[in-house]
Amino acid sequence: MKMVKINHRNLPAVGIGTWNLGDSSTTRQDEIAAVQAAINAGARVIDTAEMYGNGRSEKLISQAIQPFNREDLFIIDKVLPSNAGKANLEHRLDRSLKMVGTDYFDLYLLHWRGSIPLAETVIELERMQQKGKIKSWGVSNFDTADMKELWKLPDGNHCVANEDLYNLDERGIEYNLIPWMNDHQVPLIAYSPLAEADTISGKLTHNKVLQEIATNHSASVYQIMLAWTIRNDNVLTIPKAGQKEHAVDNVTAGQITFTADELTALSQEFPTPTHKEPLAII
Ligand SMILES: NC(=O)c1ccc[n+]([C@@H]2O[C@H](COP(=O)([O-])OP(=O)(O)OC[C@H]3O[C@@H](n4cnc5c(N)ncnc54)[C@H](OP(=O)(O)O)[C@@H]3O)[C@@H](O)[C@H]2O)c1
Repeated sequence: MKMVKINHRNLPAVGIGTWNLGDSSTTRQDEIAAVQAAINAGARVIDTAEMYGNGRSEKLISQAIQPFNREDLFIIDKVLPSNAGKANLEHRLDRSLKMVGTDYFDLYLLHWRGSIPLAETVIELERMQQKGKIKSWGVSNFDTADMKELWKLPDGNHCVANEDLYNLDERGIEYNLIPWMNDHQVPLIAYSPLAEADTISGKLTHNKVLQEIATNHSASVYQIMLAWTIRNDNVLTIPKAGQKEHAVDNVTAGQITFTADELTALSQEFPTPTHKEPLAII
């Protein structure tokens, strides 16, 4: 299994996304079973947010992690930009901790940039880390200019990760954000790595090259898409799976490695960016 280091923890590079989990009572038990199956298969990182179902995802996680040791897991939560200032951040963090049923998060992210000054958010995040409520903090939906701005702030370089949209069909961040992050040793957390089951462009699952590579590896095209996001170091990928079989397939995909020819073939189908593109966001 491919591994990634975040805040000195060596973690399996396939984690668990949780957006929309817990939204429906009819699928809830299956979703809990899917999260547990992923953990039993070897996943350790769970990505949630106060925004997801206004706490429903956090609540589902609290139930799903019951059988496991908290210290074995690495739980990521996110604060909404409107709550990321002195007035609200600690209160929102306390609420999220209560929802998940834990007394600390391993990583707490600013979900995206809003109108509260970044410097104020960093001060609050640092304060929360000193209080022990979070082990580390990071950002999400930050582009290169945002990272550079963050690095200029006092303690801004304590940020341990940036979570951005990244999949075969959305390679824009390879132009200058991933190189900047590698230079500064900031891991990428790749969200929507399956392009939301190829519902964004619809160009992936029917692609012949992708299908052929999947056959080579006795894998599904989704497993190939996922393994591709972690083909290089310093990337954690967080697919969401509400179905147990998908959850296990995703963790297993962490073992797939590609030949140079396969990577070249994929880049011919899904080219790397040749110029700066606006940051893709969902
Ligand atoms: N920071 C941010 O702003 C941000 C934004 C978006 C997402 N995220 C995070 O990233 C996570 C993943 O992104 P996402 O939920 O947008 O989409 P995604 O992971 O790209 O795709 C999820 C979809 O793929 C399906 N799927 C999962 N594994 C599969 C497999 N092995 N074979 C076939 N289909 C499979 C799922 O189906 P089933 O559910 O039916 O299994 C679901 O429909 C989120 O859950 C969230 O934690 C963060």
